[in-house]
Amino acid sequence: MKEYFIQNAQDYVGQTVTLKGWAYSFRKGGKIWFLQLRDGTGIMQCVVTKFDADEASFELKNVITQESSVIVTGEIKAEPRSPGGYEMLAAKVELVSLADEYPISKKDHGTDFLMDNRHLWLRSKRQHAIMRIRHTIVKAIRDFFDDREFTLIDTPIFQQAATEGTATLFSTDYFGEKAYLTQSGQLYGEAGAAAFGKIYCFGPTFRAEKSRTRRHLTEFWMVEPEMAYYDLDMNMDLAEEFVSYIVAQVLEHRQPELQTLDRDISKLEAVQAPFPRISYTDAVKVLTENGVEFKWGADFGATDETIISNQFDRPVMVHRYPSAIKAFYMKRDPEDDKQAMALDMLAPEGYGEIIGGSQREDDIEALIRRIKEDGATEEDYAWYLDLRRYGSFPHSGFGLGLERVVAWICGLKHIRETIPFPRTINRLNP
Ligand code: 4AD
Ligand code: MG
Repeated sequence: MKEYFIQNAQDYVGQTVTLKGWAYSFRKGGKIWFLQLRDGTGIMQCVVTKFDADEASFELKNVITQESSVIVTGEIKAEPRSPGGYEMLAAKVELVSLADEYPISKKDHGTDFLMDNRHLWLRSKRQHAIMRIRHTIVKAIRDFFDDREFTLIDTPIFQQAATEGTATLFSTDYFGEKAYLTQSGQLYGEAGAAAFGKIYCFGPTFRAEKSRTRRHLTEFWMVEPEMAYYDLDMNMDLAEEFVSYIVAQVLEHRQPELQTLDRDISKLEAVQAPFPRISYTDAVKVLTENGVEFKWGADFGATDETIISNQFDRPVMVHRYPSAIKAFYMKRDPEDDKQAMALDMLAPEGYGEIIGGSQREDDIEALIRRIKEDGATEEDYAWYLDLRRYGSFPHSGFGLGLERVVAWICGLKHIRETIPFPRTINRLNP
């Protein structure tokens, strides 16, 4: 059976087709009514007149409600005055199910109300645009790595040890043993890099973030490439090529959605490699020059990141952070032991950190020392340490937070709109 979708309307001009969807809105007159039909791919104006439609179809104007499901058959015409550039002259409108009074109307609703109704709110034009851009970003991520000889290695969600510190671990009972929800696939990705050279994992990750911010979810998606024989510079080369590719794909395929969101396209067009690279030490100088009292060794807060990224029109990569504030698995700078071979990529326009990564420690003694400094035992990381026992190798990787990137590219104020069903400190429903 042939299916017809509103987004392909240009191919149907002059044809009689059937569209299946929901009544987004309508306007009613005496001898004519207009139905904005939503089918998930777009919105089509259907014109229902007393002359062109059968009587039952025409009379539906007296019963139809917002979000009722309907099937409409009619001829498609080019119509520059209608929102999508096309309209349908309806011959038949079939009511599939009459909707109860829809809770989301055109008037302004508070965010809490909309979040409580997230399962319905997803149908709105703005949320639709965001999710389609998210979809394109996910496709770009997969295409990028698939086109460059990376093998997808899925990593487990139940894990037995921390990757990113114990403070944000979610724990659960695993048949009498303690298990944690994954904070990152990285350690398993390193095993993958030793087996396949270049790999990536891409899946949901979990952090018990107790703070209420515009940038943190408790469940978010992260893509993590891991590459054998890559040093920090090669890692940064890959990260900038990756992020420019994602932005270019969205610009190529999602212009109407970016318009719906009123996104300033010129800001995205500036995102071209190479990106500026500055050391943490130089980033601290930028802060001092901007009147911030900041001591070398501290971590950047959200406002610090904004000041640093505001110096540039594209993402900036900050490298060589103080080792004391970075994870145990990061390699120390051979030229200065107080620094880790870390990189963070900060998005422009105040969107903050979108990538965190590093060159990994390949020396087993150094790694064991740091595991113990963190209060853990060699036992906890026994299999991970094997990767240094059996053919240790220089390697690097990074993690990109999908929702942070969606927020930035869409120009959203808050991360909660970037994922279909957000999980935050105060939301588990819907
Ligand atoms: O900087 P993070 O913690 O790095 C890691 O997890 C490494 N193991 C990755 C690696 O090297 N393979 O997290 C990576 C990214 C951050 O830059 C941010 O974009 C995102 O994950 N992120 C979050 N996004 C939403 N909500 C949160 N609570 C996030 N925490 C991190
Ligand atoms: Mg980080």
